[in-house]
Amino acid sequence: MLLSAPISPNKTSTSKKYPGTFITLEGPDGAGKTTQLRIVSQELKAIGCEHIITRDPGGTAAGKQIRRILLNTTNPLSTMAELLLYQADRAQNVAEVIVPALEKGLIVFCDRYIDSTIAYQGYGRGLCLQTISTLNEISTGGLKPDLTLLFDLDSEAGLSRLHPGSYDRLEREALDFHKKVREGYLTLAKEESNRFRIIDASTSLTTVQASLRKALNEKLALNLPEG
Ligand code: TMP
Repeated sequence: MLLSAPISPNKTSTSKKYPGTFITLEGPDGAGKTTQLRIVSQELKAIGCEHIITRDPGGTAAGKQIRRILLNTTNPLSTMAELLLYQADRAQNVAEVIVPALEKGLIVFCDRYIDSTIAYQGYGRGLCLQTISTLNEISTGGLKPDLTLLFDLDSEAGLSRLHPGSYDRLEREALDFHKKVREGYLTLAKEESNRFRIIDASTSLTTVQASLRKALNEKLALNLPEG
């Protein structure tokens, strides 16, 4: 099946042009956002709040193959090849999963999106931020999240939650790389404070879960318990 790719780099849009709501989760490695999303998804299901969860990279069949190439620790990848693979994965996810779900009026949660590329390939790898921004626009057709939840924690703390033996290609990077990634995220959150909401991910699972529920209650006018 051929899906039309979003190719309007100069037109920035939000999901406002769709009836659905687009929420992204971001954060350094080890922040726990995937676990938190899984838990809150069960609660949303229980109250009949229709939503889907996708991820960057790996939200589609093609994306799963791209994810394997990206995170594999054996094949070398140039920084530009890495950047373009993340964008290829994203273009497919937007066309195949995200836009169709927003058109149907669903809430779409995406575990990582454009801000990961700015934080990791821009701040972490040092690639040109303007180039990344242009590529983000091209791969998404300018689709920006309505809300971005940044799970923030200290880089050492994040890495210490992972098992060094199973680090993927990005997790293997030096501590300095991860510190730059965090700095990138915090800069983005400051620049786009209307879109971002920072969640302190250094606390216990239940405290983080309460902050997540609070943020979703506010954005989606829900009544999930915050205690
Ligand atoms: P995760 O989905 O398990 O968090 O792993 C994805 C890894 O890829 C994570 O280390 C962040 C990294 N990444 C980038 O470097 N650039 C990107 O654009 C995205 C989406 C992820």
